Amino acid sequence: MSLRVIILAAGQGTRMNSNYPKVLHKLGGKPMVLHSVEIARAVSQDTPILVIGHGGGQVREVVEERAEYVLQAEQLGTGHAVAQVRPLLESTCEHIIVIYADMPLLQAETLADLYAAQRPNPGPITLLTLVTDSPRGFGRILRGANGSVQAIIEEAGASPDQLTIDEVNVGIYCFEADWLWEHLDLIPISPKGEYYLTDLVAMAAAEGQAANAIVAQNPDEFIGINTRVHLAEAEELLRKRVNKNLMLSGVTLVDPATTYIHSSVVVGQDTVIMPNTIMEGDTVIGADCLIGPNSFIVDSRIGDRCRIFTSVIEQASVEDDVDIGPYGHLRKGAHLESGVHMGNFGEVKNSRLRRGVKMGHFSYIGDGDIGENTNIGAGTITCNYDGKNKHKTITGKDVFIGSDTMLVAPVTLGDRARTGAGSVVTRDVPSGALVYGVPARLKPADRRSEEGKHSEEEG
Ligand code: UD1
Ligand code: CA
Repeated sequence: MSLRVIILAAGQGTRMNSNYPKVLHKLGGKPMVLHSVEIARAVSQDTPILVIGHGGGQVREVVEERAEYVLQAEQLGTGHAVAQVRPLLESTCEHIIVIYADMPLLQAETLADLYAAQRPNPGPITLLTLVTDSPRGFGRILRGANGSVQAIIEEAGASPDQLTIDEVNVGIYCFEADWLWEHLDLIPISPKGEYYLTDLVAMAAAEGQAANAIVAQNPDEFIGINTRVHLAEAEELLRKRVNKNLMLSGVTLVDPATTYIHSSVVVGQDTVIMPNTIMEGDTVIGADCLIGPNSFIVDSRIGDRCRIFTSVIEQASVEDDVDIGPYGHLRKGAHLESGVHMGNFGEVKNSRLRRGVKMGHFSYIGDGDIGENTNIGAGTITCNYDGKNKHKTITGKDVFIGSDTMLVAPVTLGDRARTGAGSVVTRDVPSGALVYGVPARLKPADRRSEEGKHSEEEG
């Protein structure tokens, strides 16, 4: 028993009005074609075959090793597209599933059901149909007096009577492979000059082997994307699907209609997500968090019991019990350890804020390593860039940085060091010392004790 899946993706997608191949337009943050490739891989362990044509090079760059490729140099129809695969697959497998890459909401279970229905079928084809009151361009299913499927008629070629048929072809088929390879070249050319895969249905019926049809139950899986209007409809359906799964798994979405979470995101139990929150990419959110309103989180890790309020978090990691915002911005490489508090208008980039650091208001920490329980006063800035290079700012534990301090990197502050309000710190500050002023200098008493230390060292 073996099954291969062929995905047709050679068409141009003219009605998208785009410079990019239709199947590279994104749905749920992922190029449409990858949705099809994923479900194909879920139903068959063997690599799916992607038929490419228009923009084929670009499609390959995106799909990479996840598919094998067959080029359809000229787009002469869906039947012609499948015929291009014959040299590769003939005599290698028993069943072939064909799907179209512009139908990205299809679910793997539906393909599995299709395969399960074709395996015991003595005839050569099982196809999926849908009964719908909005057939929008789909081929109509013609059934005979006894109910058997006799043909698929494309909308363009359908008579007024046929157009009233409410059962349509969704474009998903499982074939007996040998029969398919024998019949592809016999498909007649259509008035439009194309070879329709759908004509195989009438050919089977003529041989007394009517196609077996499964009437699909969930119309949301069969949104064919031909325009950007369809793309937005599909996006909304996918969002609803993801949101529903999250809610059923124990996450509260206060307003699912304004919550935009990609299927790649993992969210822990009892986390509450407020409106206007967007979470994308490789993101994991812990349990018991409160996220949003108005937050954007991408490619980041958030621990348990965190509060992220109206903030932007990109490629950052946050441990447990951290609160951020409103208007916080974590950029690439920000790492906030447990219990960090980051209040309004803070920005952290490529820096570690160790346990219990408090950064209440208007601060920028770039390329820093800030020691445990340090207090970062309002308006503190690491001057990490000298116009050419980035430099590090390092502080010990329990440091107290006065409001409006400029830390001119590279600079190091020892444990329990303190800076006065408005200091411009250009030189390292010893443990326990206080500096103040512009440029910052040691408090006289601290200076004497430092000088003492040095003369001891020298002596
Ligand atoms: C097709 C079906 C129609 C069905 C509908 C469901 C045929 C003849 N018609 O119509 O019955 O209701 O899908 O969405 O199959 N493609 C190629 N090479 C080609 C032509 C198309 O690879 O030469 C690919 C396209 O990239 C696309 C898919 O096949 O992914 C379907 O082609 P499209 O032109 O969108 O067919 P429909 O008119 O939608
Ligand atoms: Ca289509």
